[in-house]
Amino acid sequence: MERGTRADVPPSAHFTYEGGALTCDGVTLESIAARFGTPTYVYSASSIDHAYERMVAAVPRPCLVAYAIKANSNLSILRRLAARGCGADIVSGGELARCLRAGIRPQDIVFSGVGKTDEELEAALDADIRAVHVESVPEIDALEQIAARRGSPARITLRVNPDVDPDTHPYIATGLHDTKFGLELDVARALLPRLITSPHLTLEGVACHIGSQLGSASPMADAVEILGRFARECVDAGAPLRSLDAGGGWPIRYGDEDDAHPPWPAFGAAIEEGLRRSGADALDLELIVEPGRALVGEAGALLTRVIYVKEQASKRFVIVDAAMTELIRPALYDAYHAVMSAREGAGAAPGDLVGPVCETGDFFAVDRALPDARRGDLLLVRGAGAYGTSMASNYNSRPLAAEVLVEGGEARVIRRRQTVEDLWRGE
Ligand code: LLP
Repeated sequence: MERGTRADVPPSAHFTYEGGALTCDGVTLESIAARFGTPTYVYSASSIDHAYERMVAAVPRPCLVAYAIKANSNLSILRRLAARGCGADIVSGGELARCLRAGIRPQDIVFSGVGKTDEELEAALDADIRAVHVESVPEIDALEQIAARRGSPARITLRVNPDVDPDTHPYIATGLHDTKFGLELDVARALLPRLITSPHLTLEGVACHIGSQLGSASPMADAVEILGRFARECVDAGAPLRSLDAGGGWPIRYGDEDDAHPPWPAFGAAIEEGLRRSGADALDLELIVEPGRALVGEAGALLTRVIYVKEQASKRFVIVDAAMTELIRPALYDAYHAVMSAREGAGAAPGDLVGPVCETGDFFAVDRALPDARRGDLLLVRGAGAYGTSMASNYNSRPLAAEVLVEGGEARVIRRRQTVEDLWRGE
């Protein structure tokens, strides 16, 4: 993603000041910290509901929204989305188990990923999920053997790599040929005769995912056009195709964007445009999209308490009790996350916002105007609902933080904080 030069707090209808205190849907962050401690992820249930409704309104219909659960796979969040008819895009046996546990219908689950093990493929077939998104020839070989042994054909989708530049950060670009994802078109094309005649595989879809946090909608149109053309080739070759999956990447607002990203309906329109340009609109395929961060990213924030403010000759460090173990995005992608004080009108002071972990990369913000904070103050790191807890670790023997959902004016724990005993369980 092109890094912007701005350092704003993006507007939110859910994290707002009321009577001088920062609240999540009316519940003060101070009360959440007092009850549940810090660091804690705080999610707004109504923000998730609203994001899902906006997504459904933005995509062409009929369309399955298959939430990329890697963004946040907490069971309460999955159950909430499942109850609204949401499906899932998964990348591991663990994610499959979570989806089944949360009540996501198997026919609404698709399985992406370049390195599925035989056990994971078996589990997917046992669960009778909608389709395995195959990404390599050896994966097809393995799946075909497993399906032959089981005596029932496996439904597959070819995930192709359309070689489209997604206009995002290189670490989250997945649709270029030098990334490990998907099948090159030539390879996918050459597989068609084999797939169509295999008694053990049913080619029922085509898919792509070009990257995350897309900066513009036109790469989506280009990718869908390429995918749509390939879908037509599959149908012409005799495949019983029923779906086209345009992947995820729908952007959210973090606060450093120079220009607001295009609204979600622009991505829906780009998909339609790609279908039209390729002629695949005539095929009557069910569309699938795989948004991850779009559904949960803005709904979540990381609540943390200032341990010390350390003034050095060159710099001021605000040291908080959250760290890269709770939100690794700044360290990994140089990602921007807005920071708010729990007190309205706290004023601003320049400095770095850092955690206690023994890594120079353990920061949330560098050389930024931060809320003027003192020891004991509470800060809220925004945009942490996606790829926060799901990328958390126990590094430095830090127990995983609690997760709290605010719903109907009440806050409740949806994952308890780990205890120190949890740290060595299994050792
Ligand atoms: N579908 C597939 C096949 C994916 O690999 C991904 C994300 C998605 C959908 C959802 O992408 P989203 O809509 O959330 O952008 N940890 C990084 C993001 C890695 C995304 C990997 N794949 C981050 O924090 O930005």
